[in-house]
Amino acid sequence: MEIQWNNSLATGVDTIDNQHKEIFARISALISLDIENIEPAKKEAELHKVLRFLGGYVLDHFKTEEEFMTKYHYPDYDGHKKEHMDFLKSYSSLVRMFEKDGATDLIITATQNQAVDWLVKHIKVTDQKMAYFLKPRMSKT
Ligand SMILES: [Fe+2]
Ligand SMILES: [Fe+2]
Repeated sequence: MEIQWNNSLATGVDTIDNQHKEIFARISALISLDIENIEPAKKEAELHKVLRFLGGYVLDHFKTEEEFMTKYHYPDYDGHKKEHMDFLKSYSSLVRMFEKDGATDLIITATQNQAVDWLVKHIKVTDQKMAYFLKPRMSKT
């Protein structure tokens, strides 16, 4: 599995693209972990770091997008917001699993898959659709 930023993920709104790039960078650090050969303590620390990052930074990122949508009266605000909420729901269940069982390979793989699948899909479909609406309106202000 790979997670690399590339232009097909660009929305054209710089603030949003820069935040997406940061998210990708952190997740790719988790993905590049060689879980078969890493010490358990390091595994634990790495997963903890990524989960904390996702909980903080991703939440702020969602807020940024939601503020833009509100400011420019984006018509599909509710649908977009719901996807953000769905991500946060699955994120919380990963955190609960981690708190209960520690950094098992299952949780690491689930975090990788969930983060990658969800993000790529959400950015390519939902965020790009939003940015297409926002861009011409933002350049007027
Ligand atoms: Fe979004
Ligand atoms: Fe986004």
